[in-house]
Amino acid sequence: MTETVLLVGGGGREHAIARALADDCDLYACASNRNPGITDLATEFAVVEETDAEGIVAFAADVGADLAVIGPESALAAGVADALDDAGVYTFGPRKAEARLETDKAYQRRFMREESIPGCPDFEVFDDIDSACAYIDEYDGDLAVKPAGLTGGKGVKVIGDQVTPAEAKAYLRDAEYERVVLEERLVGEEFTIQAFVANGEFRTTPAVQDHKRAYEGDEGPNTGGMGSYTDTGLSLPFMNEGDYEGAVEVLAAVVDALPEYTGVLYGQFMLTAEGPKVVEFNARFGDPEAMNTLPVLETPFVDVLTAARDGETLPELDFSGEATVCKYAVPDGYPTDPDAGARIAVDEESVGDALLFYASVDAREDGLYTTTSRAFAVVGRGDSIAAAEAEAEAALAAAGDRVRIRHDIGRSELVESRIEHMDELRRQ
Ligand code: AMP
Ligand code: GLY
Repeated sequence: MTETVLLVGGGGREHAIARALADDCDLYACASNRNPGITDLATEFAVVEETDAEGIVAFAADVGADLAVIGPESALAAGVADALDDAGVYTFGPRKAEARLETDKAYQRRFMREESIPGCPDFEVFDDIDSACAYIDEYDGDLAVKPAGLTGGKGVKVIGDQVTPAEAKAYLRDAEYERVVLEERLVGEEFTIQAFVANGEFRTTPAVQDHKRAYEGDEGPNTGGMGSYTDTGLSLPFMNEGDYEGAVEVLAAVVDALPEYTGVLYGQFMLTAEGPKVVEFNARFGDPEAMNTLPVLETPFVDVLTAARDGETLPELDFSGEATVCKYAVPDGYPTDPDAGARIAVDEESVGDALLFYASVDAREDGLYTTTSRAFAVVGRGDSIAAAEAEAEAALAAAGDRVRIRHDIGRSELVESRIEHMDELRRQ
């Protein structure tokens, strides 16, 4: 039977989800923006805000969707999964209550403490800024300052890395957040594992390393993610044997504690000298990480969705065994002062064997232009990270100089420096 699937969201991540589904189902999509990659793959596309639960339920009913997949956290926070589920559309995405794992960092840390989830850093939650500032003064060591609510990954400031204690306090006073989490700064290398979760079961995908800083060499402000890579197996070159499994144990503990959780559980880990610690959980695929993971998933993604819906054991996942390198092209000046309106000179034809994923683009009569957000990404695949990187770079050759790309992502020098960093921390 052909399933009718509704995809919610219009970024690079959702283009990757659309590509993973389009051949195996009748795909419909809705988002606030018209992503040309998604509209090409979908039978029908509707412009609906990702947070408009009623509008999304109405579109699902119009097209007769059996299943829904939610891309962005904004939709989860708005209760779109609850609304679709309540309307009888099985939704791969947690309900609002479970999505608090991502949408409320104070809840997330308290949940970890209460449920004894391994890998939780030392933390405190503050509702008033004076006490938070006093804690910064007293604390012996560096802290990460995290607004409790959603900030698109851009609200966190790490003392000793991005800011001084005085700057952290000034930031807290200026920003007027209602609630903040202050937690032990974790030192190491970050990686992500995304798991498919349903009916108390889960399946994991290869570890990915994202690059949050805007500029090469991990300089500049945090972004939504400038690009990412995976290796040929489940692990990454700077990880030791047992590190991947250690992170999977954390995910297993979360799934045990939240038996109702349905959808993607994204674990962001810091690999420290003592092993993986939890930076955060997200309640959805990562963007860019979905673009690394889904193209190498050989098990049809729709089979995961139908097994989840039908209460069957989730399929074991097969992967192609290729390494992947994803690089985003962003408007010049992104994220602080993005230069919108640059013509995008890369298309499906010009990228060769690489994959092109559109994110935020403005379709005009004479072509596609940048907006103020990440514009498009390319993903190279190969039998090594270096081969995948070369394929991604070849695809970006036509990108021009009005978009910015972190060319260092996936390059041997950067990957080697990650390995050396971990070796050094483990020696200390
Ligand atoms: P989050 O929104 O929690 O993912 O935080 C954004 C980024 O801030 C993470 O990807 C890390 O690079 C950094 N970060 C968050 N928490 C910590 C921590 N406890 N120690 C060090 N860095 C952190
Ligand atoms: N790449 C980070 C995120 O999706 O949150």
